[in-house]
Amino acid sequence: MDSSARILEALAQIKSRDIDPSEGRLFTYIYETGIEELRELARKAYSMFLETNALDPTVFKSALFFEKEIVSHAKRLMNAGPDVVGTATYGGTESIMLAVKAARWVYRKGSRADWVPEVIVPLTGHPSIRKAAHYLNMRVTEVPVDPETKKVDVEALKEKVSTRTALIVVSAPNFPYGTIDPVRDVAEYAADKGVLVHVDACVGGFILPYFEKMGIDVPLYDFRVEGVTSISLDAHKYGYTPKGVSVVLFKGEELKKGTIFVDLKWPGYPLINTTVLSSRSVAPLAGAWSVINYLGEHGYIDLARRVVRARDELLAGLRRLGFNNLAPVESPLLSLGLDDEMELFKYHAGMSLKGWVIGLQPKVEGVAPYNIHLTVMPVHEKVVDQYLRDSEEVMRSPPPRELVEALEAIERDPLSLAERIGETPLDAIIIAKILESIPGEFADEIARQLTVEVFK
Ligand SMILES: Cc1ncc(COP(=O)(O)O)c(C=O)c1O
Repeated sequence: MDSSARILEALAQIKSRDIDPSEGRLFTYIYETGIEELRELARKAYSMFLETNALDPTVFKSALFFEKEIVSHAKRLMNAGPDVVGTATYGGTESIMLAVKAARWVYRKGSRADWVPEVIVPLTGHPSIRKAAHYLNMRVTEVPVDPETKKVDVEALKEKVSTRTALIVVSAPNFPYGTIDPVRDVAEYAADKGVLVHVDACVGGFILPYFEKMGIDVPLYDFRVEGVTSISLDAHKYGYTPKGVSVVLFKGEELKKGTIFVDLKWPGYPLINTTVLSSRSVAPLAGAWSVINYLGEHGYIDLARRVVRARDELLAGLRRLGFNNLAPVESPLLSLGLDDEMELFKYHAGMSLKGWVIGLQPKVEGVAPYNIHLTVMPVHEKVVDQYLRDSEEVMRSPPPRELVEALEAIERDPLSLAERIGETPLDAIIIAKILESIPGEFADEIARQLTVEVFK
């Protein structure tokens, strides 16, 4: 047996290679306040409940307590009535999986038991929706978005609704462009046709309510809209809780019943699962409960203000440098383009080499050119000036040598740099260029193969 001191030393060493989110250099993947006291509280709460298990809430009372509290909070945020019930999950993907499963359950009742039901998804819908349909053996029908607003094309969507449709999913907001789909128009039509509507508010659910409280106009997307039948919202995004907490809310108990897996007949314990996972730690729920109570309404409004301030300063500064926003700004997410594609790569590469982690989104025919994506968080307020100074310097400089060499290598052989993925700050560009040069089906297969290799 090794000593715990030595293992802790090794852990510190391993951790030192990770970016510290509190520095504000990440503009994607995380949701960070930068408040050290809050991080410390979450860590303590997490470790206090590390050994506590949500497998059977009759055994660990804390599991039930935290889940009920967090779901009640989510219901208040989404203006839910008493007919709304919910489940705490481990993340947005799991919440969406349950929403899709609930829709399949309702659809298959009665005469349509053997049909393959269909989920209608806008182009901008998060891949977790397709993943859920894939796991649940359902069909996906994609609907285009309006090239200007980047919101789902409602007329095109209406044409796709049929007797096969079990669910329509819309986003508040969608991840790539940050716009909120016209939930009211979609839900009104869907209600008329008897089709369920899920709102993916995984990103927006914990911040848009505070935008409203600040007096910002937010298009209606929650249970105030007649016809919305389920909503997913992630505490571990703009709720700023440790990873592992999302909520899915259902209008009516029947939908929730459709998500519960029961096996009372096997020889072991009576199994009743409300989530995809069975044994799961209560730690994330304890962390979330603590963060939600620590911040309270005032804390969340204050953080939403910081997000808006940082977002607007970033937007104004980047516009001065020639960037244009690709969609109306309705959320904390920005997608920005430049007229010249090479300039955009130069910018992304230059900023990456300076240690900033920003999203790079692909061009989509008729919708958007290559663009950068910024998920703006409260922690960014303190780095806006530095970010913009670095941006200016990068824009004034010639393309970095590393970029030119990487693009030339990919031009010669698209896979020549594949083995270096994970080792250079230019990963995002290398991956984007590889994907651009390899057609869809092949790319998927290569991605699977490379992933197997990476984890070996
Ligand atoms: C709009 C949207 N929905 C769902 C998800 C999935 O969330 P998770 O990564 O927690 O599974 C994401 C993740 O970024 C998202 O942006």
